[in-house]
Amino acid sequence: NIPSLKDVLADDFRFGAAIDPRDLAAPTGDLLNKHFNQVTAENHMKVEAIQPTEGTFNFDAADELVEHAEANGMEVYGHTFLWHSQTPDWWFTYPAGHPQAGEPLGSSAEDQQIMLDRLEAHIGAIAEHYGDRIWAWDVVNEVISDNAAEVYRDSRWFQIFEGPEYISHAFRIAREELDAVGATDVELFINDYGTDNPAKRDNLYNLVADMLADGVPVDGVGHQTHISLNTPLDNIESSIDKFAGLGVLQAVTELDVAIGAPVEGVEFPEYEARIVQQGHYYRDLFAMLREKDLESVTVWGLHDGRSWLRGFNGTRPLESPLPFDDDLQAKWAYWGIVDPT
Ligand code: XIL
Repeated sequence: NIPSLKDVLADDFRFGAAIDPRDLAAPTGDLLNKHFNQVTAENHMKVEAIQPTEGTFNFDAADELVEHAEANGMEVYGHTFLWHSQTPDWWFTYPAGHPQAGEPLGSSAEDQQIMLDRLEAHIGAIAEHYGDRIWAWDVVNEVISDNAAEVYRDSRWFQIFEGPEYISHAFRIAREELDAVGATDVELFINDYGTDNPAKRDNLYNLVADMLADGVPVDGVGHQTHISLNTPLDNIESSIDKFAGLGVLQAVTELDVAIGAPVEGVEFPEYEARIVQQGHYYRDLFAMLREKDLESVTVWGLHDGRSWLRGFNGTRPLESPLPFDDDLQAKWAYWGIVDPT
């Protein structure tokens, strides 16, 4: 009967997992209920899930997650209103009834307005449906480029707006729609990966600082934290410290620590050693995170068998980035969190 991670971390931050409805039944549901007090929908609150065709909303899977969370004393972190990925094509094309229906939007003021109307309708429907049952939302996800010189991701959103203004619009719309249903306390986050990379971090920092100076209602910064055994802890720490200077809320939103497993069919003799090394990494990472002022730390999957990294960049059956293994057993990573000595 091993300690519950949410209890171990209770004085520091909420401890979350990314899940989907198939995780709710036993035995994974028991693992979830024992160790976690927050959930994020791994996929089911993304645009393609909530609004697969324009004007048709589907909250069934998301509701299952939220209802399970509420029934088991967990909070819900929302992911995500605006992302370049997992968003249906209709969003970026002219609407039915328009002379160019189905063709890609351009960047005229009218076309930009179509995008903003859609964002308002989308966020408005979600705000109406969930109100303050979801305590925070990733309003925008992954808007910063990996190419530091480019600053912003060259997404369809960026192209249609010919710049990053859509980001501020998204925060203002989110605040308005949530306030309109009385959900004035719901916190609005900007979320990205690679915030440990100093150049990318600085671009994100400048964006958040500018938005705050302009009165844009951004409340928090989410560090996805898809990292590996080679990611220097110092870079993670200095990023959190830097954003703390802005007075924003912060969360680790999608943690996994890849051990660098190869694609299927390639030998991986280092496996056992890497799993031990990962235990040390988790130990040092959590010791650091517990010293910081964080709202939550979420691992991106309940256990290794459910990690998205198994299928990212090829099939990697031995990639094992999480604190629990395929058999739901505690790994060295788990013990690193529980017993930092
Ligand atoms: C991933 C999911 O885990 C996968 O199941 C899905 O196929 C693709 O998306 N950054 C994010 C998450 O913000 O939404 C992504 O989740 C992982 C990277």
